[in-house]
Amino acid sequence: MISMQKLMLRYPTGKTALAGVDLKVEQGGFVYLIGESGAGKSSVLRTLYGDIAPSYGELHVQGMDMRTITTANLRQLRQRIGIIFQDHKLIFSRTVFENVALPLRVQGRDLNRLLPRVKKVLEFVGLSEHLWSYPEALSGGEQQRVAIARAMSSNPPLILADEPTGNLDVVTARHILDLLQALNKHGTTVIIATHDIHLLQSHAGKIVQLHQGAVVDTKAS
Ligand SMILES: Nc1ncnc2c1ncn2[C@@H]1O[C@H](COP(=O)(O)OP(=O)(O)O)[C@@H](O)[C@H]1O
Ligand SMILES: [Mg+2]
Repeated sequence: MISMQKLMLRYPTGKTALAGVDLKVEQGGFVYLIGESGAGKSSVLRTLYGDIAPSYGELHVQGMDMRTITTANLRQLRQRIGIIFQDHKLIFSRTVFENVALPLRVQGRDLNRLLPRVKKVLEFVGLSEHLWSYPEALSGGEQQRVAIARAMSSNPPLILADEPTGNLDVVTARHILDLLQALNKHGTTVIIATHDIHLLQSHAGKIVQLHQGAVVDTKAS
């Protein structure tokens, strides 16, 4: 699913964010990327999403070589990756339905078939009753569940989550993790960047620890 070798990333500012990262993730894997703030977690996720091009090293995501990928192929690849951010980036002027349907519309799916799929994923995250709500009417945890519903709506084989529980209390955070793990049980590869080590206690996975842009430890939780 993912093969990263000696990956280096230097931002235009001259900052070296990744200094030779090796990471292999099998299909169906569940990976925690941990490390202090500034360790390079978000940078790893951004290279996986093709948001920034690595400066050096090898990177393959779902069979695509990220150093040479064309714009058209990158657009297609992104349709096979679900992303969840801490500041979930929901569109507040749109209903929950419209937010969750967004990746499906990007894929050009038939409008008539959107509703059943959106209903199904909202049921999965326990928000069926909020189909026509606006995000501002929801709690922080509910909004994050909408973000998960949106990330999974087109059934991508890979989900990247950057600090998905960042602003949430412990109980709500655990619920978000439960959902990501349930998705993983269905075969979705999940990578979670977090500085919250409490999360690691509740669910098994591979833990990859970054420090100053390098992997310093890899273990099973
Ligand atoms: N857009 C950017 N431009 C320049 N430097 C950046 C940028 N984004 C992140 N950095 C730097 O790269 C390093 C790694 O950042 P990041 O990947 O965001 O770490 P983490 O997600 O683990 O907190 C940090 O030193 C950060 O300041
Ligand atoms: Mg980060």
